[in-house]
Amino acid sequence: MESDACSLHVQACARLNEFLLLQEEKHSFACIGAVMNSEVSRIAEMAEAGEKMIERLRRQAFLPESRKALTVRYGIAEAATLLGCSTNRIRMAEDDGRLPPPPPTENGRRSGYSIEALLNMREVLGASPARAPLDRPAIIAVQNFKGGVGKSTVTTHLAHYFGVQGYRVLVVDCDSQATTTTLFGFNPHFNIAREQTLYPYLSIDPTQTDLLYAVQKTPWPNVDLIPSNLELFDVEYELAASGADGGSVLASRFRKLKRGLQDLARDYDIVILDPPPALGTISLAVMQAANALLVPMAATTPDFCSTVQFLSMMDQVTSQLAQAGIEVEYDFIRLICSKFDSNDPSHAMVRQIMEQTFGPALLPVPILESAEISHAALRMMTVYELERPIGTPRTHKRCRANLDEALGQVEAMVRRGWGIAAPASEEAVVNG
Ligand SMILES: Nc1ncnc2c1ncn2[C@@H]1O[C@H](COP(=O)(O)OP(=O)(O)OP(=O)(O)O)[C@@H](O)[C@H]1O
Ligand SMILES: [Mg+2]
Repeated sequence: MESDACSLHVQACARLNEFLLLQEEKHSFACIGAVMNSEVSRIAEMAEAGEKMIERLRRQAFLPESRKALTVRYGIAEAATLLGCSTNRIRMAEDDGRLPPPPPTENGRRSGYSIEALLNMREVLGASPARAPLDRPAIIAVQNFKGGVGKSTVTTHLAHYFGVQGYRVLVVDCDSQATTTTLFGFNPHFNIAREQTLYPYLSIDPTQTDLLYAVQKTPWPNVDLIPSNLELFDVEYELAASGADGGSVLASRFRKLKRGLQDLARDYDIVILDPPPALGTISLAVMQAANALLVPMAATTPDFCSTVQFLSMMDQVTSQLAQAGIEVEYDFIRLICSKFDSNDPSHAMVRQIMEQTFGPALLPVPILESAEISHAALRMMTVYELERPIGTPRTHKRCRANLDEALGQVEAMVRRGWGIAAPASEEAVVNG
């Protein structure tokens, strides 16, 4: 499976070039025909060629099977740091049989501990970070109406960060573009049916009464996914066409998503929602179903302006929802710079403006823009899934350390709500 990253990149570019040349050739033929029709029909051709290319790239990245396997391993020192214990404690537990023997040696080197082994270690050594039964699971919406700000990148990296830390995580892809689903190694077009998305639950003619049907296992033992595909967009059409009764149908869908997610959340510590980049029914439902809000944005003027608009719109929408008897309540709201280029002076300037504007609501550590993240995305992975660096070891280490620090801020926000505040009653947990 592990073809060298650079060669994967080069091959991918070559394929894209082939694809583009093919389309150019097709275009010259098409010019012979009627211009309007041929141009329009090219959209379908391009979409089809694109789908085939995505599938080829995915197969290249995860040969031989369509599902990717989690091959990342941790050394004993890293494992000890993650568990907050000494390496000796792990060795002793391996010696006295409480833990399985250490991982075997390959080519004179230890192969390292898998995520499963780490989870078992946490269990045996009493180092699980899981919430107490009466602590409220965090349901975090990673939301901004601006496209391309890094919502799906933050969602998937946050999920895998929490996965490494030993939490039970559910990711819900609420966006019909399905980037998050793709980053989990599924091809939304070929591997995901409408019945596996939120659609049967949110549709105007629902065929499901709870969300259990939609939860899929991922290669991460402690991270599950509700996937998405393009057909989820039909929910928007259907509800828009629901006519005079539209208001009450919308309200019932909002409540339904919240209820469904709260029911599922009982089995998890963290639920992460990736909504579409638009103010539609699903975005509103997500906004209302969440109990925490994380707003990613790049350190650019357009992203800053759009985020301000997003916040004003949120303000209006939440007051309108409150008037309609639908409460939106968050344990925390934080903004995060999601693609910060420390070598670009304009990023530093915009970040300063953001700090002045948002104060402590802006998380102090930004996520750095990194080739490691974009290269991992080309393999349909997150940086947390890379077995070895794609770029230089230095770039990888820097990126990973930054992600741990930046996403650790979100973990701290979540944990702040656990244990310190008076524990919620069982009834409050059940009813959110
Ligand atoms: N920190 C980063 N470093 C490098 N590339 C990044 C980083 N964050 C995001 N990207 C890249 O930016 C692009 C957009 O990111 P992403 O798809 O996560 O945004 P989005 O907000 O989910 O987009 P959409 O609004 O379309 O859903 C992707 O190509 C992603 O790989
Ligand atoms: Mg996205």
